[in-house]
Amino acid sequence: MGLTCQARFLFLVGCVRTVKTTTWFEEHLTEDNQEYMRKTMAEEYRRQTAEKLNPLKDEPWQRHEWTEGSRRVGLVAVKLGMAPIWTKTGEKHAVTMLQVQDCHVIKCLPREEYDGHTAALVVGGKNVSPFHRSEHYMEMFRNAGVPPKQKITTFKVSDNAIIKPGTPLYAAHFRPGQYVDVTAKSIGKGFQGVMKRWGFKGQPASHGQTKTHRRPGASGPGGDPAKVFKGKKMPGRMGNIYVTAFGLKIWRVNTKYNVLYVNGSVPGHRNCVLKIRDTVLPTRGSTLLSPPFPTYFTEDEGDLAEDLYDDDLFIHTEPSLTLT
Ligand SMILES: *[C@@H]1O[C@H](CO)[C@@H](O)[C@H](O)[C@H]1NC(C)=O
Repeated sequence: MGLTCQARFLFLVGCVRTVKTTTWFEEHLTEDNQEYMRKTMAEEYRRQTAEKLNPLKDEPWQRHEWTEGSRRVGLVAVKLGMAPIWTKTGEKHAVTMLQVQDCHVIKCLPREEYDGHTAALVVGGKNVSPFHRSEHYMEMFRNAGVPPKQKITTFKVSDNAIIKPGTPLYAAHFRPGQYVDVTAKSIGKGFQGVMKRWGFKGQPASHGQTKTHRRPGASGPGGDPAKVFKGKKMPGRMGNIYVTAFGLKIWRVNTKYNVLYVNGSVPGHRNCVLKIRDTVLPTRGSTLLSPPFPTYFTEDEGDLAEDLYDDDLFIHTEPSLTLT
């Protein structure tokens, strides 16, 4: 009897349902059907995207020339990780690799619809299962004729930089030598004290301190203001907010795998989805002389080289030394 009770208990524990994925069909379909669903969905995504490969061919939208002060659309990319590079003079830099995955223009908002001052383009990146997206968003994707995306974001653009929804965007939209701004959600640190969150010094280790080594100390004057001013630095949630890294140089662009190599670090964890735009810093904007406008179209420039390098970058595949 004792044994059967134990056996039954073990059996029940074994049956506790754990959700391993959030994908609807993985929970409700057999393995064969799952495979079928995955295959057909991939095919469907490829078909939808292949139709959009030549946005200029079917009734293109009017295109305009690049002028000083025009504002281009940006990209949605995935952070892959970091790597070292060397310049021709032998300086070492750390770069972050950002891959542009399934990036498409989803919607065009003329200035009346956006804020009355500027037009905007809604851009999405990284395909996901439709079960991740609400019906409201699915309608937007269907109108654009592209697969559902994990990340959707809006870029303000000038009126002459508007692009037709459904147009794919590639890493070659940006060119080596130019500077970009990267926005992403920073890594969440949880609830932290003042030393980690604000860099307070803390208090001494000895000389009679009791349990006050990492505490903030006084938080404001008494008597006259008799209050703590708003915005006082205190313990609290740290990280997990949108942060922008400004003025990062692009060292290299890989057009085959759509990878951008930007100087230094960018916010967010590995595999996070982030947005990249031409920099807004006035002193770095001049690096943008005649960029592909409004974006890079494959039929315009033909086949670009697989890798585009900055002039100062040391290229490992080329001989660094010639003997005469
Ligand atoms: C690259 O980033 C590093 C560290 O963030 C910085 O010191 C350096 O000035 C940057 N170089 C360029 C060319 O932007």
